[in-house]
Amino acid sequence: MTMNARLKETAHVTGIEWLDSENALLRLNAPEAARLAQPGQFVLLAAGQMLNRPFGVALTDPDAGMVTVGIKKVGIGTGALLDLEQGSAIRLLGPFGHGFSLDNVNRAYVIGGGTGIFPLLFLLHVLRSRGVETFAGCGFRTLQQALLQEDFSDVSDQYLTACESGGGDVSGTAVDALDALYLGHGRTERTRVFACGPIPMLRAVNRWCETHDVAAECSFEARMGCGFGICRGCAVPVLKAGALDYDRCCVEGPVFDRRLIAWEALS
Ligand SMILES: Cc1cc2nc3c(=O)[nH]c(=O)nc-3n(C[C@H](O)[C@H](O)[C@H](O)COP(=O)(O)OP(=O)(O)OC[C@H]3O[C@@H](n4cnc5c(N)ncnc54)[C@H](O)[C@@H]3O)c2cc1C
Ligand code: FES
Repeated sequence: MTMNARLKETAHVTGIEWLDSENALLRLNAPEAARLAQPGQFVLLAAGQMLNRPFGVALTDPDAGMVTVGIKKVGIGTGALLDLEQGSAIRLLGPFGHGFSLDNVNRAYVIGGGTGIFPLLFLLHVLRSRGVETFAGCGFRTLQQALLQEDFSDVSDQYLTACESGGGDVSGTAVDALDALYLGHGRTERTRVFACGPIPMLRAVNRWCETHDVAAECSFEARMGCGFGICRGCAVPVLKAGALDYDRCCVEGPVFDRRLIAWEALS
């Protein structure tokens, strides 16, 4: 789904749930965004004087008018958002972007790493509600850094945590979790991989999907300027009729079919 309309609302913080010392779920009362958001779309948030920052929608509850985003504290903007008190008003623009395709899939492998795990939770909830078989794997450096394991298990037929330092369900990366899940459950005619995470992870997912000839959609977290299609600061290299071109992550993305991406040109 593509949203070009510039929707704006004042959202109110209803709670901040810390998952560890760096990551938290920010819960917002934002009825319009809750009604409109589709898995894979993002919102732009800003408090006080700060500039807009993009975050994937991690959960919605349209009846209660609630939107949740997962935030990793990395700098000024994320720090300011996570310092807010309950009841604080913030600016919300969106939801924006082209989300995950939900049609024509009956078995989904949902693979995440870094802050890319947050929007996958929303995707899993919606896939589940549509009767799709869901197998999920998230990669972390260490088991201590693993987040939301129970939440992912609750909405997956099988969920695996992969840890590079060992100690998880799988030793290795998120792609090793994908490999283990696929070995156990294989494919149907309508199997698709959904991935969100850092570029090296997405690149590895693409390679794995090429080898196994599986369709995949990858969600990118490219740096953004405006966030709604004007500045072209979020260009992602794509192939159109075999020629290199650039799409905007904030409008044509953040979710792209893996076959559209010019992986060699991606830095
Ligand atoms: C479509 C999209 C969805 C996103 N979803 C989420 C999400 O669900 N949860 C979440 O925590 N973050 C998400 N991000 C990343 C988030 O927007 C940035 O972490 C945030 O804007 C940083 O703001 P800041 O002011 O705290 O950091 P800054 O002070 O601007 O920068 C702090 C550090 O973070 C780095 N950084 C800033 N933006 C990015 C980025 N886009 N990718 C990688 N590194 C970055 C900077 O280089 C710097 O090292 C998403 C980004 C995009 C484009
Ligand atoms: S961030 Fe400005 S066009 Fe995408």
